[in-house]
Amino acid sequence: MTCYFYRTIDSTNIEAKKLAEQGEGSGSVVWALEQTAGRGRLGKRWTSVSGKGLYASFIFRLNLEFSEYAKSTLVAGVAVARFLKEELAPAHKRAELTLKWPNDSLVSGKKIAGILAESGAPGNSEFSPYLVVGVGVNVLQKTSDFPLELQQHATSLFLETGKQHRLEPLLARLKEHLCDCMQSFEQGRFLELLAEWRTMDYLFGKKMECVNVKGDVVAGVSLGPDDSGLLHIIDDIGQKHEILSGDLRLAGGLC
Ligand code: BTN
Repeated sequence: MTCYFYRTIDSTNIEAKKLAEQGEGSGSVVWALEQTAGRGRLGKRWTSVSGKGLYASFIFRLNLEFSEYAKSTLVAGVAVARFLKEELAPAHKRAELTLKWPNDSLVSGKKIAGILAESGAPGNSEFSPYLVVGVGVNVLQKTSDFPLELQQHATSLFLETGKQHRLEPLLARLKEHLCDCMQSFEQGRFLELLAEWRTMDYLFGKKMECVNVKGDVVAGVSLGPDDSGLLHIIDDIGQKHEILSGDLRLAGGLC
């Protein structure tokens, strides 16, 4: 288990995937103060201002069928939520922290953290499949540190608590929660983790819209994730839709 530290890197996920493909063991982490090409879900950018956020990618090799790896974003979501609740306390009521399927953590509806989980099972490799869990947490940002279009929709630990958190201890505490949740996942306790995830479901019962990669829009009320972690929506005529991926927002253009 090694911690690879960079002052500046393109993306910790890119580096962690390279390392994993060369055989890096489970538990290693790539951490950077700044990313010049931080990546979000669906090809979006993750703004990574130097020293203001936690930008880290954790490598796991899970003792599970590779098909199970698809559930790991929700597992990591529970870990990030446990971590954030500790860091936000006692300033916050637990109810203010929610999870937006599949990968966002929100405080009072504003994004504070995101997860980009990527996996690989290189066919011609001697190494077992890997999972890279990339986590970005807004830590020290003031509102003006976020791009203009995000300023109303993003928050940070500093904005919520007024505290100047130190990044290194945060990294260690986040890692503990991630390792703990991944271990429970390996022990067959996904449904318990999912039950915890559902208690924080931001979209459940709300009218929302999902735009898929082709640009098609599915609108309806969220029924939350099913037992395999896929989101279900029921539309105005009572038809149910299973959402594999896509950009989700509340109806009316809210985040
Ligand atoms: C999202 O909200 O769309 C996911 C954001 C994930 C950002 C983190 S920052 C550390 C790691 N490296 C990346 O390039 N992305 C993830």
